[in-house]
Amino acid sequence: MSGRIALVTGGLGQLGRSICERLSQRNFKVVALDLPQAVGSDEAKDWSARQAHADGGEVALIEVDVTDYESCSRGVSKVQDEIGPVDVLVNCAGITRDATLKKLEKDAWDAVLTTNLDGVYNMTRQVIDGMTVRGFGRIVNISSVNGVKGQFGQTNYSAAKAGMHGFTMALAQEVARKGVTVNTVSPGYMSTKLVEKIPANILEEIVDRIPVGRLGETFEIAALVAFLCSDEAAFITGANHDINGGLHMR
Ligand code: CAA
Repeated sequence: MSGRIALVTGGLGQLGRSICERLSQRNFKVVALDLPQAVGSDEAKDWSARQAHADGGEVALIEVDVTDYESCSRGVSKVQDEIGPVDVLVNCAGITRDATLKKLEKDAWDAVLTTNLDGVYNMTRQVIDGMTVRGFGRIVNISSVNGVKGQFGQTNYSAAKAGMHGFTMALAQEVARKGVTVNTVSPGYMSTKLVEKIPANILEEIVDRIPVGRLGETFEIAALVAFLCSDEAAFITGANHDINGGLHMR
């Protein structure tokens, strides 16, 4: 469906960019939401300009800090005023602060929960009424395999990512009769900077356990997200979609 408006938080991260690109190719008007320093860079502006194409797809950039409710409110108002009503929200902003619990400082707990979980509330709350009133909406929460199975050294991240799917299932029930679907996508280990931060010996062990035998690519996640955002995906809601190369099967 062309012309629908999609917001992607963390839109300038590696996965966020792939999702923006894919939605733009599907003729969505996409807005990548990210922190001011990311949005303000010349490199991001060049990337955004390259996404526009003749069939109407495009990617605009708007500053939003998902940890700040007022920032989310201002960002969404700006989109509504300058571009139009929001049809799709992809909650993709996320961070890691890995440490075993005995070493996990309070600020590392708070940072991960505030960004990865509070951010989902802060953004979704801004768009849900408009979607239900207009009778169409797609919300996709980007969680993680580690929210499903847990991961050594990630009590904060696993808790936040599991919490995202609880949010998905509850909200999916609230809005199912209004044409709005809410889904979770749980990627496994991808070729991204987040994963490159893992010590090489530990990453090697993790990759050895992935049946497909490699890390995932962000375009593979983006393809699934774009399908969930499409009109054809109207009967898929409240589901947690694993995409992890077989690392965790259930
Ligand atoms: N299971 C059980 N024991 C383990 C273990 C595991 N998986 N890994 C390490 N240990 C043991 C060690 O052998 C060591 O034992 P001894 O104390 O007996 O020697 C002990 O645990 C080390 O504990 P520490 O608290 O000292 O751990 P550390 O500080 O050395 O390292 C860590 C902790 C930084 C979290 C490190 O384990 C690590 O980086 N792990 C990978 C975490 C990970 O997978 N993150 C994913 C990031 S990407 C992402 O999150 C995207 C996504 O969605 C997939």
